[in-house]
Amino acid sequence: MSQRATPPMAVVTGGASGIGKAAVERFVDEGYIVAVLDRSRTGLDRLTQSQIGPRIRAFPCDLAEVGTLTPLAGRIVEEFGPPRALVNNAGVCLYADITETTDEMWETSLNTNLVGASALIRGFVPGMKGVNGAAIVNVASRNALSSSPRAATYDAAKAALLALTRTLAVELGGDGIRVNAVLPGFVDTPIHGDLLEDRGFVENYLRLIPLNRIGRPEDIANVIFFLASEGAGFVTGQGIVADGGQMSGQNYVKVFGERDSFRMRQETDT
Ligand code: NAI
Repeated sequence: MSQRATPPMAVVTGGASGIGKAAVERFVDEGYIVAVLDRSRTGLDRLTQSQIGPRIRAFPCDLAEVGTLTPLAGRIVEEFGPPRALVNNAGVCLYADITETTDEMWETSLNTNLVGASALIRGFVPGMKGVNGAAIVNVASRNALSSSPRAATYDAAKAALLALTRTLAVELGGDGIRVNAVLPGFVDTPIHGDLLEDRGFVENYLRLIPLNRIGRPEDIANVIFFLASEGAGFVTGQGIVADGGQMSGQNYVKVFGERDSFRMRQETDT
């Protein structure tokens, strides 16, 4: 009697919305069962009731409650086996002037964006060591490399997540676990509230993006899946920026308008 192969499992945090949801859909398309960890019960319900519901295992949890996460990872491994891919995607961005940034904000931001990911890694890694092609993908931000005002806790947390990515690549490489990060630029997701409805804002922002468009969640999900897949089998410890070229440089003409001094002039004496 032939036995059906067990489908691989991916774990995606913050998978009920935006980039995480697009990643969940991509993993399902590729034949994975996906454990989705998210604090939004409504978002999780929507996912389990959708067409891909049978491929989803939903785990309501708060990444900021770090102490609950390693035991949760243990329960997931016990029930479903270790994941082949762990995507630490959930994140929050709390804006405030530095003088208004409270200890609570630091705690929430660092726990959600960084320490929570580390607690899950601690829980999943022992099992992942036995999985062929195991990979961790951390969703950082272009803010890990280039800061924004009023975003101290976010910028620091994402820069630390990128550093953690490199540390773990070195530490876990011998166990066959690859660890990479994706650093998205501006992507159209609910994290921005109604900002993208402000056409003036969008027009101004596009001046910073060589590809001249805001990112789509699928743009980032594609990179996440690539980094988790065999196609990236010799890639570890890297942060891939997916931002439409924003970090590559500024197009002065787009930012400041046409100026004579932006053109090459060949002065000729007459
Ligand atoms: P989103 O707001 O659409 O989705 C975030 C998901 O994470 C939501 O489902 C939310 O319920 C969940 N979540 C947030 N805090 C949580 C917690 N404490 N515990 C459990 N779940 C929690 O946001 P988006 O844009 O999809 O963000 C995903 C990741 O991408 C984040 O880490 C964000 O920092 C990063 N990112 C997003 C960019 C963008 O322009 N959208 C740019 C750069 C990075």
